[in-house]
Amino acid sequence: MYRTHTCGELTMKNVGQQVTLAGWIQRIRNLGGMTFIDLRDRYGITQLVFNMEKNSQLCEEARALGREYVIQVIGTVAERENKNPRLATGDIEILVETLKIINPSAIPPFTIEDETDGGEELRMKYRYLDLRRNPLKNNLLLRHRMAQEVRRYLDGQQFIEIETPVLMKSTPEGARDFVVPSRMNPGQFYALPQSPQTLKQILMVAGYDRYFQIVKCFRDEDLRADRQPEFTQIDCEMSFVDRDDILVTFEGLIKHLFKTIKGIDFTEPFQRMSYADAMAYFGSDKPDIRFDMKIVELTSKAKGKGFGIFDQAEYIGGINATGCADYSRKEIDALTEFVKRPQIGASGMVYVKYQSDGSIKSSIDKFYTADELRIWLEAAGAKPGDLLLILSGAREKTLKALGNLRLEMGDRLGLRKQDIYAPLWVIDFPLLEWDEEMQRYFAMHHPFTAPVDEDIPLFNTDPSKIRAKAYDMVINGVEVGGGSVRIHQKDLQAKMFEALGFTREEAEYQFGFLMNAFQYGAPPHAGIAFGFDRLVSLFAGLESIRDVIAFPKNNAGRDLMLDSPSYLTEAQLNELRIKVVTDEKNC
Ligand code: AMO
Repeated sequence: MYRTHTCGELTMKNVGQQVTLAGWIQRIRNLGGMTFIDLRDRYGITQLVFNMEKNSQLCEEARALGREYVIQVIGTVAERENKNPRLATGDIEILVETLKIINPSAIPPFTIEDETDGGEELRMKYRYLDLRRNPLKNNLLLRHRMAQEVRRYLDGQQFIEIETPVLMKSTPEGARDFVVPSRMNPGQFYALPQSPQTLKQILMVAGYDRYFQIVKCFRDEDLRADRQPEFTQIDCEMSFVDRDDILVTFEGLIKHLFKTIKGIDFTEPFQRMSYADAMAYFGSDKPDIRFDMKIVELTSKAKGKGFGIFDQAEYIGGINATGCADYSRKEIDALTEFVKRPQIGASGMVYVKYQSDGSIKSSIDKFYTADELRIWLEAAGAKPGDLLLILSGAREKTLKALGNLRLEMGDRLGLRKQDIYAPLWVIDFPLLEWDEEMQRYFAMHHPFTAPVDEDIPLFNTDPSKIRAKAYDMVINGVEVGGGSVRIHQKDLQAKMFEALGFTREEAEYQFGFLMNAFQYGAPPHAGIAFGFDRLVSLFAGLESIRDVIAFPKNNAGRDLMLDSPSYLTEAQLNELRIKVVTDEKNC
């Protein structure tokens, strides 16, 4: 038997017992005639004691051990003199009688402590060492518990978990596919699913009216803190439902998670906000509503007074930063630099200070009287002591820039608190997005998303105005999930393909299997998928999803531990009938 107990479970109740423990050496301390070792496993840390006077040979052996050695000890549980209230086992220690080295360890390249000295790349290369640290271990435990609760809730609602293949065909989520060559079908490739979208719709045709799957999805897109090339979705689909059934069922899932995992009870229904309002007031389709600071449009109030930049602008809008009228020149300059960053894209920023004494100071005093500026301040709900920050330009771009400025101010003012959760549904997305470069429409969600019924005639007049029966769940400015009611009627699907510029042949080649299935009795259906990694990182209070994934990839899409992707041998390439055209040398 390797162990009688784990390193996290012995307490005063066990004093006097002989126990066998096994684990990794966290730390060794030599104090006079005593040597102390912190022995660690997944469950905790237990202090081992070696006494020079009682057994000098054993003590010498202990002193020769190193960090991260795997050892096994037999000893007796004793009450500690200096108790450690921060450890679950802090009241006891083990007086060691026998010691066995199970496996020595090389010196780890970084310290395996909660606060480590290892940089991110190094930690990813030695991920197995990183995963020994408490913060990562706790993230994986949280992930596990959340997965269990997801299954418990959905099982309770009659959903069944069905697996779908990974070697698939291109799916319609709009990113690039990862592809896998087929040896048995030379020149042909599988695509890894960007989501199981088409298959879950086929499962509805097959009659499995409540499906879910916690499933890997693959998208070859530029990576960010909340994006990985392979990530996990809680993927769901239901039949004989409309939009509100989905919103209620899956609001229930998120409430269940908050309650069971965080002890937070959301009693009220989640807010529902139209896409149009989200853009107009928050400059984003994923508004962070932990704080207010809504965008206020000033276009009609600010135009026509001889200030050229505003006079030429399609849109002028501002946000009111409460209590910031005393911002210094330096602080205002820093904000101006912020909005001018290429990712934000504003050309400049105007401010109006509503000073505590009621007077007004602004960067555009020359063009506007105090009374004119007061009208703007009133529109923005500003009080003495507040600061109005104003951007102008093309409508959509300026709203997005204001949205980013709003988040920046939210950060600066400490309004984006991690332990506050503000979920909402964003609904009524546009069905189609016009792409200037390609001169064509794209589906904002995917080509099977149903339009709002009363907007269907707009297919013939102004497709850009059609609203979709699509919805996103947003928590604290993070899009954690999204889905839609699907088109289940052939004629409407044909209209949609036509609006997207698909020829009949193209639609047939890409989605013929789905269209075929729809001929055999497609029920009305709708669904949603949650980004599981994003949900877990939100619950863990993390910015990045990397640390809730056991083996993530870096920003270049590489697994630094596996050193992947890697070259194929000539023999493998030949077998697949693939010729690689690259400047790099093949191995
Ligand atoms: P969508 O593309 O919106 O919808 O994806 C659903 C959710 O998955 C998460 N997500 C990601 N998480 C990490 N890394 C990524 N690269 C990544 N991409 C997306 C987001 C997102 O809200 N088939 C549809 C769902 C449906 O219509 O039922 C779909 O995949 O949290």
